[in-house]
Amino acid sequence: MEKKYLFSPGPTMLPPEVLLKMAEPIMHHREPEFEKIFAEIREGLRYLFQTRNEVLIFTASGTGGMEGTVSNILSKGDKAIVVRGGKFGERWGEICHAYGIEIIPIDVQWGRAVNPKEIARVLQSEPKIRAVYTQASETSTGVRHPIKEIAEIVKRYENTVIVVDAITGIGVFDLPMDQWGLDVVVSGSQKAMMLPPGLAFVGLSDKAWKFVERSDLPKYYFNYKKELKSAQKNQNSFTPAISLMVGLRESLNLIKEEGLEGVFQRHEKLASATRAAVKALGLELYAADSPSSALTAVKIPEGVNGEKLKKMFFEKFGITVAGGQDQAKGKIIRIAHLGYYDRLDVIMVISALELLLKDLGYPFELGKGVKAAEEIFMG
Ligand SMILES: Cc1ncc(COP(=O)(O)O)c(C=O)c1O
Repeated sequence: MEKKYLFSPGPTMLPPEVLLKMAEPIMHHREPEFEKIFAEIREGLRYLFQTRNEVLIFTASGTGGMEGTVSNILSKGDKAIVVRGGKFGERWGEICHAYGIEIIPIDVQWGRAVNPKEIARVLQSEPKIRAVYTQASETSTGVRHPIKEIAEIVKRYENTVIVVDAITGIGVFDLPMDQWGLDVVVSGSQKAMMLPPGLAFVGLSDKAWKFVERSDLPKYYFNYKKELKSAQKNQNSFTPAISLMVGLRESLNLIKEEGLEGVFQRHEKLASATRAAVKALGLELYAADSPSSALTAVKIPEGVNGEKLKKMFFEKFGITVAGGQDQAKGKIIRIAHLGYYDRLDVIMVISALELLLKDLGYPFELGKGVKAAEEIFMG
């Protein structure tokens, strides 16, 4: 017998309550029963995003959510700052290019967080910047960017908005949209929202809606004005991923039951334990200065083959962890702990890591990582 475990930063493991809901016979999306579910989801998303405004829902992966924030927020001739500190930061730049938007990249060394002062400097020197695109949590490197500080800076510019890819941030750590003045916040279903891939979410501030009003870039499926009108009638504009929506109501209920504060604390604890464990094994963190609590990126030690380690996780234990991408390929593994994860999940994945490292001849004392994690949980 072999069990399978997902420790990748999306898709993530799912709660049985959500799985069971999604297995129910499908309903029609224009029925009153579905509209009732939709209304509950709208409330749940407001709670999760910590906003009074509407959070739009699209049937798409997270990238679809990202794309719409360019085509609906910007206009021809606008410029945008793009924080590029990993794969997903680069994606912001690629989407902007696809819509003819000139970008001013702020390139950040992989594994490092952006310095908000850099953003302040560029904003001051370039009057045509209408948006600052960044990640809250750069999943390719395991870095958490200083969103609160960036938002403080952008807030001073009436004609500029901050757009946050919080795909591995929402439901992981605190990102109070209204309180911090985050104008556009994007998330996706297959991360801390404890659902399969297929739904993208976009919350917008009043300031961002003014940008939507004047946006003249081409758009069709991702049309915020149209989607807002539909949402206000508890509908999607097009056929939604109905089963995912039914699951979403359940996962939002689970989040509400635990409470946002509880959710954030749990993630922080799991992340602290994972970090303490790998350090106790003599391994280094890839994002040592500003690690995200969504995932832990660990440097592969000298003499160990990173790609092989990742493969062995699956072959020996049925565990999927993520490797590094592009310049980090073969150099890191990424262990996720966002969404439906608890303390013993961390103990399991650390134990597997120890067994594999021993197998690969890496010298350390067996049990040291597990012990360090347990000590965090005892504390
Ligand atoms: C931070 C971040 N942005 C964007 C994406 C892209 O989302 P998707 O693969 O769902 O399109 C991901 C997915 O891993 C992500 O972690």
